Amino acid sequence: MIKLDLSHARLAQNVGTYQEAVNQAHKMLHEKSGAGNDFLGWLDWPLNYDKEELEKILKTVKNLEGQYDTVVVCGIGGSYLGARAAVEMLKGLYPLDGMECIFVGNTFSAPYIAQVLEHLNKRNVVLNVISKSGTTTETAVAFRIFEKFMIAKYGDEAQKRILVTTDKVKGTLKTLADDKGYTTFAIPDDIGGRYSVFTPVGLLPLALVGIDIKALMEGSKKAYEDLSNSDLKVNPAYQYAVARRILDDMGYKAEMFVTYHLQLTMVAEWWKQLFGESEGKEGLGLLPTSACFSTDLHSLGQFIQEGRKILFETVLDIAKMPDDVIFPDDDQNLDKMNYLSGKKLSWVNHMAMEGTLAAHSEEGRVPNIVITLEEDTAFGFGYMIYFFFKACAMSCYLLDINPFNQPGVEVYKRKMFKLLGKE
Ligand code: PA5
Repeated sequence: MIKLDLSHARLAQNVGTYQEAVNQAHKMLHEKSGAGNDFLGWLDWPLNYDKEELEKILKTVKNLEGQYDTVVVCGIGGSYLGARAAVEMLKGLYPLDGMECIFVGNTFSAPYIAQVLEHLNKRNVVLNVISKSGTTTETAVAFRIFEKFMIAKYGDEAQKRILVTTDKVKGTLKTLADDKGYTTFAIPDDIGGRYSVFTPVGLLPLALVGIDIKALMEGSKKAYEDLSNSDLKVNPAYQYAVARRILDDMGYKAEMFVTYHLQLTMVAEWWKQLFGESEGKEGLGLLPTSACFSTDLHSLGQFIQEGRKILFETVLDIAKMPDDVIFPDDDQNLDKMNYLSGKKLSWVNHMAMEGTLAAHSEEGRVPNIVITLEEDTAFGFGYMIYFFFKACAMSCYLLDINPFNQPGVEVYKRKMFKLLGKE
């Protein structure tokens, strides 16, 4: 389902030289003996996931069928990025079924929130608030606003249209939800935000917008099976982790995640959080950044080709995308574009990718790692997410870093709370 191509990566050493270090990190991961081992619930989750919770999700969606055309997801960081990445990758930016998915709780921006509220007046809404801690300020601020909107719009019926994903037993949000009689879905204790897409954090919004969550879990299971061997010759997730380490040692301190489809922009955002929050500690880690080509070749392309040599690129290529467009012929050919008549746009995009790969890696001397995902499906998405989980955990253990905490994020919160007058 995933192929890794390191032939353009310009690595100074063979990935195989890391086999011993990888074996040790793999052992730490699977024996749960390394740093952050109380947050390794995601590792076996594709096999051991809570089947009852999945059935509860499907039943809840069935009970709401036909009563909504808009899903509002209220959450931030790991409590929204995975769902948004899946929705956009699998349904596109303008879904044909007309089902909207709107994300709030990820910003204090008043114009954005005001505009969403205005827009929702015309829509039939289901609200899913997601917060593991139950106390995240951006989410709590938005939830109070959108909960009041729902009650004003639907009265008593709002109760069944508000769904809460949070800790199983504790926290402010859980207490609130129980008090008001909202249906709740549990986030396991041992799975942190950015590793939580396969829990109700991701599965509930995805099921609400009509994505096949069982196929998604099957994809994660296949990845679990394929990536459980520590042998670098057969494990592309570990090869990717080692290639990143080698490039870091060679002086490349930024990794640019490159996609060739606008509907993958949020996959890049999800990837940035996964690697940035997991690896950026103790003065270490690669800066995760992203670009969507060929769009951004017309903005960032110059820097990548000829600017300071600080970055390498990781290209996510998807072999089979769902739709295609044939370039039309034109009798007059005034735009001189007939040389593409009859060609598929997917082919044109692929040639742009091949050309850019050659330009950046050969002439620009920018190392390129190419990850090819076989298909843009729920199964493929599940597979890809687990691939990056495994690669990220391995990358961090190779750096001797705890992949599962984010102590640095607290600093802005302390400063902000003081200014907001929070006790
Ligand atoms: O990865 C993480 O743990 C974070 O990004 C959290 O998901 C984010 O801060 C939101 O936290 P919570 O779900 O507690 O509201």
